[in-house]
Amino acid sequence: MPAALVTGAAGGLGLAIARMLAERGHAVTVTDLDGEGAEGAAEAIGSGARGRRLDVTDAADCAAAAREVAERDGPLDVWVNNAGVLITGVAYQQDPAAQRAMLEVNAVGTFNGTRAALEVMLAAGRGHVVNVISLAGLVAAPGEVAYAASKHAAIAYSIGTLADLRRSGVRGIDVSAVCPDGIWSPMLEDKLDDPDAAASFSGSMLTPQQVAERVGRVLDYPSPVVTIPRWRGAFVRAFDAFPRLATLMVPLVMKAARRRQRAFARRLERQAP
Ligand SMILES: NC(=O)c1ccc[n+]([C@@H]2O[C@H](COP(=O)([O-])OP(=O)(O)OC[C@H]3O[C@@H](n4cnc5c(N)ncnc54)[C@H](O)[C@@H]3O)[C@@H](O)[C@H]2O)c1
Repeated sequence: MPAALVTGAAGGLGLAIARMLAERGHAVTVTDLDGEGAEGAAEAIGSGARGRRLDVTDAADCAAAAREVAERDGPLDVWVNNAGVLITGVAYQQDPAAQRAMLEVNAVGTFNGTRAALEVMLAAGRGHVVNVISLAGLVAAPGEVAYAASKHAAIAYSIGTLADLRRSGVRGIDVSAVCPDGIWSPMLEDKLDDPDAAASFSGSMLTPQQVAERVGRVLDYPSPVVTIPRWRGAFVRAFDAFPRLATLMVPLVMKAARRRQRAFARRLERQAP
C-alpha cells in the first residue's frame, strides 16, 4: 500500500487532504502539533490511518517521521506540508514573536518536511511532495504581510527544490505548490471581525473538501504551482506585477474585502441553527 503523511492535519484542510488520500488507497499518517487531535482525526478517517504528534519546526522529528512511515507502511509516495499559522496585524506593529512563529511554521516547517520526505523518496526513486501555500504566497496580502512573507519563502523553496531535483537528473519525484484562496476552516473562524484578515475574504471562500479534491488532481497531473481557483491566481499575480498601481488601489480593494467579510459573517449568522 503506498504511504502518505500530512502535517497539521488534526482538522481543517489537512484533515480533508488526509481523508482524500485514505480514499485513494494510501496508508495515511495524520500528524499535527496537537498529537491527540491527530490521533482523533486518524480514528475518524479509519481505513488504517494512524495519528502521530509532529511539530514541523523540529527538523529531526520530521526526518524520523518520514523514515518511520517508509519502514512501516511501504514507499512514502506522498508528503503534504500543510501545517500553518496565520496571525494578522499591521506589518510594522506586529509582535516580533508572532512574525517569527509564522516564519518558523510556514516557511522553515515546509523546508523541514520537504527535506525529510525527499530523503526517503530519493532512496525509493519516487514520490510527490505537496506544499500547501496560499494566494498570499504570490502577493503581499495587506494585514497578513508576515504570513505572506513566510508563504513567499515556502513557495520559492517548493519551486526551487523541484528545479534542483531536475538539474540533478531526478525525474520520478515531483514537488507541487498549491495556492488556495480563503478556506473556511478553523484558521479563519476567529477572524470574521478582524479588519486585518479581510484579504482572506476578498475572493471566493473555498471549502477544505474543494481544495483537497484539487490536491488529488495535482497528484494525478503534477504541476509546480496550482492556484485555486485559477482566475484568482491570475488576479493576484497581476496585482503583484504592478506594485505601484496595486499600492494605490489597496485602500479601495481592502474596503471591498471588508464588505465581503461582513457579508460572509451575516450569511453564517443567517445559516446558524
Ligand atoms: N484557511 C485559509 O483561508 C487558508 C487559505 C490558503 C492557505 N491556507 C493554508 O492551508 C493550510 C491549512 O490551514 P487550515 O486553513 O486548515 O488552518 P487550521 O488552523 O485549521 O490548520 C492548521 C493546522 O496546523 C497545525 N500546526 C500549527 N503549528 C504547527 C506545527 N508547528 N507543527 C505541526 N502542526 C502545526 C495546527 O495545530 C492546525 O491543526 C495552512 O498552511 C494555511 O496557511 C489556509
